[in-house]
Amino acid sequence: MAARMRVAALISGRGSNLEALIEAARTPGYPAEIALVVSNVAGAAGLKHAAAAGIDSLVIEHGAYPDRETFDRAMDAVLRERKIDLICLAGFMRLLSPAFVTGWLGRLINIHPSLLPAFKGLHPHRQALEAGVKLHGCTVHFVTPEVDDGPIIAQAAVPVREDDDETALAARVLEAEHTLYPLAVRLIGGGQVSLQGQRTRISGIAAGNGDDVFINPGFHPAPDEE
Ligand code: GRF
Repeated sequence: MAARMRVAALISGRGSNLEALIEAARTPGYPAEIALVVSNVAGAAGLKHAAAAGIDSLVIEHGAYPDRETFDRAMDAVLRERKIDLICLAGFMRLLSPAFVTGWLGRLINIHPSLLPAFKGLHPHRQALEAGVKLHGCTVHFVTPEVDDGPIIAQAAVPVREDDDETALAARVLEAEHTLYPLAVRLIGGGQVSLQGQRTRISGIAAGNGDDVFINPGFHPAPDEE
């Protein structure tokens, strides 16, 4: 069996995406293992998922470093020492310096709760509601120095309901995130994702045979259709 890709998840808080990745990595044949969890916040709730799964975790507090670059260098050193193949940002609430991002280009991914390039930055659900879109969702993308801007790997579309508020919409998108992030990591681990400039190409996905569900895994029928 080919060696499994070693994934590090970087978190700052709740860690529900981390939990979904840990769960997925338990699936037989899944091509990645969560080898390390790093939090920049001591006591981040998500650290409990690492502990429960017996996964190594580290707290590297950004406040202990004089500036972003020094903090990023400390993380970089740990990630290289642990021979990490892929970094998954999973609710990591720190901007990364261009030097860090450039050093991990193509091996650093993020999940953002909107259908990029719409609604970058903070409060994407509020932005979506204010814009009045009927379809919202989430995106897994490679990280580039520009925030929420890198090549898109996978997206899940989620309907916006008439009575949605930010909380309801965020919850529906989060459920889709928990399917989408493990899917994107599986595609990368399986060697199915290649980078071509601003685009990614996904191989081994045959439209129409069920494999292409990744474009819309978060769709839920209206309650009266269930
Ligand atoms: C998610 O909505 C993710 O898309 C965003 O931050 C949130 C993290 O949630 N980047 P969790 O910590 O994974 O529960």
